[in-house]
Amino acid sequence: MWGGRFSAGPSAVMREINASIPFDKALWREDIAGSRAHAAMLGARGIISAEDAAAIDAGLVRIAEEYEAHGVPEAWDLEDIHMTVEHRLAELIGPVAGRLHTGRSRNDQVATDFRLWVKNACQVAEKALENLQRALATRADEYAETIMPGFTHLQIAQPVTLGHHLMAYYEMARRDRDRFVAARARMDECPLGSAALAGTGFPIDRNATAAALGFAGPTANSLDAVSDRDFALDYLSAAAQCALHLSRLAEELVLWASQPFGFVRLPDALSTGSSIMPQKRNPDAAELVRGHCGRIVGALVSLMVMMKGLPLAYSKDMQDDKPPVFEAAGLLELSLAAMTGMIADSSFDTARMRAAAEAGFATATDLADWLVREAGVPFREAHHITGAAVKLAEARGCALDALQLEDLRAIDARIDGRVFAVLSVDASVAARLSYGGTAPVRVREAVAKARAELDMNQ
Ligand code: ARG
Repeated sequence: MWGGRFSAGPSAVMREINASIPFDKALWREDIAGSRAHAAMLGARGIISAEDAAAIDAGLVRIAEEYEAHGVPEAWDLEDIHMTVEHRLAELIGPVAGRLHTGRSRNDQVATDFRLWVKNACQVAEKALENLQRALATRADEYAETIMPGFTHLQIAQPVTLGHHLMAYYEMARRDRDRFVAARARMDECPLGSAALAGTGFPIDRNATAAALGFAGPTANSLDAVSDRDFALDYLSAAAQCALHLSRLAEELVLWASQPFGFVRLPDALSTGSSIMPQKRNPDAAELVRGHCGRIVGALVSLMVMMKGLPLAYSKDMQDDKPPVFEAAGLLELSLAAMTGMIADSSFDTARMRAAAEAGFATATDLADWLVREAGVPFREAHHITGAAVKLAEARGCALDALQLEDLRAIDARIDGRVFAVLSVDASVAARLSYGGTAPVRVREAVAKARAELDMNQ
């Protein structure tokens, strides 16, 4: 391809280090689509003849059929997917194939192919997140009234509902989806026609190729277009944030599925057994979602570090942009599918959740709040009085609402019988009616809003 000015060919090491075909063959569909759009435009503008454009197009269609049926051949000498396609085109249609590369370069070609691929990856993630949102909203609706302990510092803090807890992840998934939508909108500009770095002297029509490839329009600066990979970083950053959320949910499922918690039984289809300890049901899928997060964040970091010192325009370092993106996309797709399955099909032990909330003095804040509201006690003092009540209940091994009124009055005489109305976990949860709070009515409203957002009400 560049043989004209060289007297010796590349060494074996050079061929191996230079080759991107082992991974960029994943771009073959985008590469052929880009070439077809380019050839059609060259023909329409009279830069090549209509017959040559038609011959090139027919050859490209045939190559697509071959790759679909037999996969992409991997020859290191041909370096990458762009040269592999062009080489095959020459075999099929002869020297006319050489006219395809008029007014373009592999630099704008790869930038275009990769953008198309990443745009599609955004859409795949958006769809998968929508499925997760549906699963979360469905289960939250089912458990809008189910009491469980809410934690801070992983210490039982206040009772919440399982529906509220699940809807917390719904909110995260909603924002994650927005991030992919925004990333996709931002990358919706076509680099094709930027050529090597400076644009081209041929009278090309960039609007035509951009439209043919489904972009909103062409990129505005040729140097930027061939040398930035911020679109891939936007994708990876959305993927990393999404993976972080999935990892936190995975961690909770691992914890909840452990015997001391016993809050959840993960579906058989997404658990594994132990070869030596028959009693175990291992939450492997959840653990791997947690593990994959590290690799996805790693992909983001690797591409950021790879880009940070590169002068404009293209440098070969940028060939290494693809493996981290491909790897992260595969891991994210699997993680989202596994998590959606776990949410949809897990069974929750609502009795154990309720018992844990009741055992943990989770309504202590309600007692303090009652003293403030009904007896005019300053909150700090109410907190102290409540501490004494918790200490007594702990010593007796009973719940707060199982203490006798006399016992409570001995701690502080301003307490009266009305206090029992707020000491149950149900009363505590039902009282938290502030917007965004855990009261079942609020959870039902949040679920209704989610179902409307997802068009689940038809
Ligand atoms: N295989 C290259 C890549 O993926 C294609 C672009 C090569 N451009 C060049 N000037 N050598 O980045």
